[in-house]
Amino acid sequence: MMNMQTLQDQVNAIRWFHQIDLGDGIVTPGVYDTRAKLKALHIPEDLSGKTVLDIGTWDGFYAFEAERRGAARVVATDSFIWQGHSWGSKAGFELARKVLDSHVEDREIDILDISPETVEPADVVLFLGVLYHMRYPLQALENVCSVTKKLAIIETVVDLSHMKRPAMAFYPGGQLNGDTSNWWGPNEAAVHALLKTAGFSHVETVSKDPLLYRIGRAIRHRRKYGTPIRHGIARSRMVFHARP
Ligand SMILES: C[S@@+](CC[C@H](N)C(=O)[O-])C[C@H]1O[C@@H](n2cnc3c(N)ncnc32)[C@H](O)[C@@H]1O
Repeated sequence: MMNMQTLQDQVNAIRWFHQIDLGDGIVTPGVYDTRAKLKALHIPEDLSGKTVLDIGTWDGFYAFEAERRGAARVVATDSFIWQGHSWGSKAGFELARKVLDSHVEDREIDILDISPETVEPADVVLFLGVLYHMRYPLQALENVCSVTKKLAIIETVVDLSHMKRPAMAFYPGGQLNGDTSNWWGPNEAAVHALLKTAGFSHVETVSKDPLLYRIGRAIRHRRKYGTPIRHGIARSRMVFHARP
């Protein structure tokens, strides 16, 4: 048993992306509102007996949540952050796994290297907050599809929401929030088309940011990044369920 002060010190020494409840009143101070996103994902409540693959897991909140929902096996993958390419690291995932006494397995692998030969296909695949970071989004989605047995849950930034035709905004040089690891903002029609082209046969949109929330965020992004309000409002986040 780890002493609570020691645990708090270890938590404080890490820069967290996810807010993970480690018990005894200790919640990791992640910058991302993990619980709000969890509601929007519509992950099946009961994952008993299912295998789950969480691609681009970072601190692992959603992988640990899949385990909590009864998944028989959970594999969490990442490479960019775990290799220290940005401000994060793998330390949060490792500490949370230890404290939660979790059996989530880790695989350090680039998404472009994922295939049934390298990663065992899973019943449920999570691809959350990753698509817009992909230089080669169609290839990434083909790889996701290749390891999905039943359901892939894709959460992403979407853009150009005023356009009905499939279209993607391109963000070279950090044009999305100053982050040079952001590349593409597809609109809803483009995400459906990308997923179908990648090999999924059934695709549905399961949640969208409400308009008022988008307006609030557009105002915050205008102040923080100088993003024109009309661009901010055209952007949002959506969740898609795709089945092979
Ligand atoms: C915005 S974070 C999303 C983290 C988590 N899935 C979530 O939804 O909160 C994007 C994640 O994708 C990972 N990632 C980005 N490019 C990657 C790549 N080429 N291969 C593997 N992981 C990558 C990053 O390391 C990071 O953990």
